Amino acid sequence: MSQIILIIFYILAGILSLTAIALIMSLIVLMILRVPFVRTPKRAIAALVKSGLITEKDLVFDLGAGDGKFLHELVKVTHCHAEGFEISPFFWFLGEVRAAMSKRWKMHLQNFLHIDLSEPTVIFTFLAPAGLPTLNQKLKNEVRPETLIISYGFQLEGFNLQQVIDLRPDNPKGSKFYIYKKIV
Ligand SMILES: C[S@@+](CC[C@H](N)C(=O)[O-])C[C@H]1O[C@@H](n2cnc3c(N)ncnc32)[C@H](O)[C@@H]1O
Repeated sequence: MSQIILIIFYILAGILSLTAIALIMSLIVLMILRVPFVRTPKRAIAALVKSGLITEKDLVFDLGAGDGKFLHELVKVTHCHAEGFEISPFFWFLGEVRAAMSKRWKMHLQNFLHIDLSEPTVIFTFLAPAGLPTLNQKLKNEVRPETLIISYGFQLEGFNLQQVIDLRPDNPKGSKFYIYKKIV
């Protein structure tokens, strides 16, 4: 009996230590990148879905996918395929657990600056301005001309603006989706 209690104790201690390590690593990553984890709100995702820009034929990459909630909601309604890239181990783990329930999307514990961006038909990103300049050049170099680049909350420099989805037309400071293609 006491052996079982000891085993349970070790398992719980292991889980707690791993969680603590993941949290500390996530905090370090956050301090280096200066891009905090904030979710795209559900009503914003609903507006994006309603626009009809994303269909089941699309492959969507979420660059900085956080806990995967955005892709989970998007895939559930549009039936697109998707991949999320997240650098913080803690948020990646939460996303990985979510994605395990679906065959249509997956999460990667990876810096999106080290992936190939020529494959997706849609690229989504919700990054604070600190994370955008480095991504900009990569997008210009790698995405295909027909790929939609969707930025939530922040505008991108040097791309062809196709459409704006304004979530609060009554409020100039309200959040928006900016939809771009690359300039060819
Ligand atoms: C504002 S959150 C957006 C989360 C999710 N995309 C959403 O819209 O709900 C930005 C996320 O990007 C991640 N991130 C920032 N730079 C990254 C990088 N170079 N590679 C992968 N993830 C990154 C952060 O850790 C954070 O979780």
